[in-house]
Amino acid sequence: MLGPLVAAIDQGTSSTRFLVFNSTTAELLSHHQVEIKQSFPKEGWVEEDPKEILQSVYECMERTCEKLTQLNIDISNIKAIGVTNQRETTLVWDKETGEPLYNAIVWLDLRTQSTVERLINKTPGRNKNHLKHKTGLPISTYFSAVKLRWLMDNVNEVHEAIVSHRAMFGTIDSWLIWCLTGGKSGGVHCTDVTNASRTMLFNIHTMDWDPELCKYFGIPMEILPRVRSSSEIYGFVCFLDRPYFYVVGNLCIKFVFFMCFRYGTGCFLLRNTGAKPVMSDHGLLTTVAYKLGRDKPACYALEGSVAIAGAVVRWLQDNLGIIGSSEELEKLAASVGTSYGCYFVPAFSGLYAPYWEPSARGIICGLTQFTNKSHLAFAALEAVCFQTREILDAMNQDSGIPLTQLQVDGGMTSNRLLMQLQADILCIPVVKPSMPETTALGAAMAAGAAEGVSVWSLSPEDLSEVTSEKFEPQINPEGTMSCCCYSLHTSQDSIFSSVPLGF
Ligand code: G3P
Repeated sequence: MLGPLVAAIDQGTSSTRFLVFNSTTAELLSHHQVEIKQSFPKEGWVEEDPKEILQSVYECMERTCEKLTQLNIDISNIKAIGVTNQRETTLVWDKETGEPLYNAIVWLDLRTQSTVERLINKTPGRNKNHLKHKTGLPISTYFSAVKLRWLMDNVNEVHEAIVSHRAMFGTIDSWLIWCLTGGKSGGVHCTDVTNASRTMLFNIHTMDWDPELCKYFGIPMEILPRVRSSSEIYGFVCFLDRPYFYVVGNLCIKFVFFMCFRYGTGCFLLRNTGAKPVMSDHGLLTTVAYKLGRDKPACYALEGSVAIAGAVVRWLQDNLGIIGSSEELEKLAASVGTSYGCYFVPAFSGLYAPYWEPSARGIICGLTQFTNKSHLAFAALEAVCFQTREILDAMNQDSGIPLTQLQVDGGMTSNRLLMQLQADILCIPVVKPSMPETTALGAAMAAGAAEGVSVWSLSPEDLSEVTSEKFEPQINPEGTMSCCCYSLHTSQDSIFSSVPLGF
């Protein structure tokens, strides 16, 4: 049965997608994806073009709507659009011309390493957690404040726009929402609590920009977007000359409804801690997971963030040229089934959780004359799994309640060898939903809820019959093999990790 439609813009580090769901069944009706170019102007720098990102959103919306029309589905049934986005990526634009004043500095970018080291050196006891009591975050190149500071100090146009009160700062969600709701002719300058909580300027207890933090980084508060909840009407979108879309919500920690772990460009493990922000003793972040409405309470999460996961596949493809596509990686690695003692630490952007070491760099070791590209491919997959193991161990230590299975999401989950290796290295089952677009679904659900569309449910319990694929560990903690194999099954209890833990 075709009910009202809900949609999501999923603007990730590597690609943009637009997806439309049937609100009564959660069925994905149509979608389109466009790759995003990254540029690396200097060693450690990672940039993206804000206009290309915006254009990719328009292109995805147009193509998706064309596909719906071909299916005889009336696009005016789309009642709400959610936005989910790469977090922390920072840009500044001129509100009078609508022009970005520099490329977007991507979250992976390391240009602020010396600033971060200087800031840490200035804290009592060289404490990288100096601001954690307010932000939940260590001082790191990862977050937006230091990137914004770099833009203010190094880009004349940004400096001048700030002096003449024309500058607007935003993460990608803010940029897109401002442009889609009218841009220089009255666009809405806002962000949601989840994106704000990754800037290092936001107080996760007061749920607002923090004047002391802004002073610490020397950021003028007038350039900051207004902070909203993750599920409310932000504005009205004019698209194809017909104003009929709302942009609503922004579940940047989008998969937290359903998922525990996302393999994207990096990989991110989240554990819902409910209404209480829990501070980690083991290198994890405390972050806002969502706030589903203006008057609703915020929900927090502990997060383990690893900078490089899917990005290692792109590196093997673009930099080493040993694979032509991500699918080839699985075949290559499976052809040997072992790294043969070769280890790969892809610390291209320093090390994130649990180390927070911006000066770390990648290494490949254990090479012999026997080592070939297949072993390297296998080692790359193992690297993703070992990094995941580290953050899972940290999460288990912080919560005191070991995770019994890992629910996963993201592009790399199509790699079955990776999923099996992950189960083996974690020694717990890895569960993958049959509906892989849970990230966008979460954003679309939040958007629908804000627009009063009775979306099938925001409650995990109502999504009980979800078919999933489960990868059982084939080695036990002592390292010996058992004889489990892949199985396809229906799980009632495995798919949701959203029940807050008893911290
Ligand atoms: O924190 C960065 C993260 O939001 C990136 O997400 O989906 O682009 O890997 P993704």
